[in-house]
Amino acid sequence: MTTGERPPWLALLTSHWVSLLGVGLATTAGFSWLFVLPMHLKGKADNPYIGILAFLIIPAIFILGLILMPVGVWLARRQVVKGLRAMPNRRASLGRLVTFLGLMTFVNLVIGSQATYRAVQHMETDQFCGQSCHVMKPEFTAWKQTPHAAHSHVECVECHIGPGASGWFHAKLAGIQQLKDVTFDTYKRPIESAIESNRLVGSAETCEKCHARERDLGSSVKVRTSYHDDEANTLTETVLTMREGDIHRAHVGPGVRIRYAPADPKRQTIQWVEYSDGKGRTSQYPATGVDAKALAALPKFEMQCVDCHNRAAHTFQSAAKAIDSGLELGEIPTSLPFMKKTGLEIVTSAFPTVEAAATGIPAKLAAFYKEKYPDIAKTRSAEIDAAGKGLVKIYNRNVFPDLKVTWGTYPINLGHTDAPGCFRCHDGGHSTADNSRTISNDCSLCHEAVAVDEASPAVLKTLGIPEKKQTH
Ligand code: HEC
Ligand code: HEC
Ligand code: HEC
Ligand code: HEC
Ligand code: HEC
Repeated sequence: MTTGERPPWLALLTSHWVSLLGVGLATTAGFSWLFVLPMHLKGKADNPYIGILAFLIIPAIFILGLILMPVGVWLARRQVVKGLRAMPNRRASLGRLVTFLGLMTFVNLVIGSQATYRAVQHMETDQFCGQSCHVMKPEFTAWKQTPHAAHSHVECVECHIGPGASGWFHAKLAGIQQLKDVTFDTYKRPIESAIESNRLVGSAETCEKCHARERDLGSSVKVRTSYHDDEANTLTETVLTMREGDIHRAHVGPGVRIRYAPADPKRQTIQWVEYSDGKGRTSQYPATGVDAKALAALPKFEMQCVDCHNRAAHTFQSAAKAIDSGLELGEIPTSLPFMKKTGLEIVTSAFPTVEAAATGIPAKLAAFYKEKYPDIAKTRSAEIDAAGKGLVKIYNRNVFPDLKVTWGTYPINLGHTDAPGCFRCHDGGHSTADNSRTISNDCSLCHEAVAVDEASPAVLKTLGIPEKKQTH
């Protein structure tokens, strides 16, 4: 060829396999996108995996195709210039392009769209969800129990996806990571709590969309029913007046800012707390005996709603509380001797799988009565069966052996009886350097204990709250 003559780019486009591949990828992606986009818009937007397909994978292929086209043209041109390739014939290459595009269109219509359609359909099935959400079964199960789902259906995305494009993008990236972990079976068991892995979206963008920080909750009366581990499963009640208004004002009130430094990722051991009241007073409360150097190396976080309400949507109960609520709701009969104590021993023993628990729990219970109360085992087997089923239900709400989620895996920070909770700071061991102030652990700071484990507290009569009856 003569130098200076520029080979036509359209002709070059079809001369090199790289540019043809580019054309192929771009058209396939274009077709697939046209196919997936309407699905994404038609109310299926809450399936994150379709979103990943529509907005990340397909566009990535499209862009790759667009990049390959000029690369191929450039490669072909270089070969022509070096004399390694004949100058392409304009008419012939146009014909080739038309044939190629025609072929691609056919392939796309028949194969590409079918494949995409199948893929999307597959993502909508319970099977796919069962596999990918399988990992989230504990959270899904727990979510169904809390008011967030049971009364008002607050969706997962309300708390797990931040606002705007960046929240959306982060969620998609996390989705890809999750898809990868599930596919290659590399996810952690148990999966880390959101606080632990620092994936939590700030309170302002989540909780405070629906719950006003300013709302004064005043005080409220909490009644807790529990059963003793004696033969009669004696019922007692605890009545607390909880100073919710004061509690909220102290940590998330106007101007208040609290920062803290935890020593562990689950943030269960708190080594330093800083309080500012917004009116000029700032106090620092290092934990007793902590040294300044170690402290400087710790990460610091601002206190948010979820530092107390960490399990607002996924409460996994302690075994004792789970059995108490089973007894209270009638899922387990209270009339069988030592039901609370035996039930607790059985549900806290280790079972390798859900199936093993489903048969092992009722079997252990039946064996207990057969050995200790042979008469009851004979005459009241229906009650024992019901109790066994009730215990299995409780177990299945809280323990997921395949994911290594068991009693206490996810501690509840709202309280102090089952996990350190409030006492992470309110333990009497966090004081200012001059000891003039201590984060208080006075029993009446947060609640007045009007009755603790009483058989029939007089205060309930005064308040007109009906007393729970033991069903004997
Ligand atoms: C009301 C807000 C809220 C809603 C709704 C919600 N979550 Fe969560 N979720 C949280 C918070 C807060 C945490 C962090 C808990 C912690 O770190 O202790 C969390 C943690 C998680 C975790 C990490 C493991 C764990 O248990 O800590 C998974 C997985 C999860 N949520 C999945 C879901 C799924 C699936 C749904 C919907 C079925 C959902 N979430 C709905 C607030 C919410
Ligand atoms: C999309 C709205 C929405 C978001 C976001 C939301 N909530 Fe709620 N939440 C509700 C509604 C509605 C209820 C009332 C349920 C009922 O009582 O029927 C509720 C109830 C509650 C309760 C009282 C019931 C209980 O579980 O004891 C707490 C505590 C709570 N939310 C905390 C939180 C926290 C913490 C967050 C942020 C992680 C959050 N919520 C995010 C709507 C929301
Ligand atoms: C210092 C811990 C703490 C922080 C921080 C905190 N709360 Fe609470 N909150 C509590 C306690 C304790 C209760 C009473 C719960 C109980 O006794 O069942 C409560 C109760 C509630 C309730 C239930 C009220 C009802 O109707 O019974 C809601 C809703 C709530 N908090 C939302 C929030 C939101 C939103 C934030 C963040 C702006 C927040 N909380 C920050 C400790 C806290
Ligand atoms: C991260 C540390 C931390 C945690 C966890 C924590 N608090 Fe506090 N709390 C503080 C600090 C700091 C103050 C204010 C101390 C001061 O005035 O200098 C405070 C103050 C209070 C006050 C007000 C005391 C007064 O003198 O008026 C109450 C009530 C309270 N907290 C209840 C709770 C409850 C209930 C929980 C658990 C649900 C809890 N706190 C969890 C750090 C914490
Ligand atoms: C910093 C605040 C705070 C202090 C101090 C505090 N409590 Fe509590 N207490 C709570 C909260 C929050 C709950 C849980 C309420 C809930 O589960 O809704 C609770 C629950 C309880 C319960 C009910 C147990 C249960 O699991 O149902 C008892 C009993 C109790 N506290 C006794 C005490 C005693 C005794 C002290 C003094 C050593 C004390 N509390 C100090 C905040 C506090």
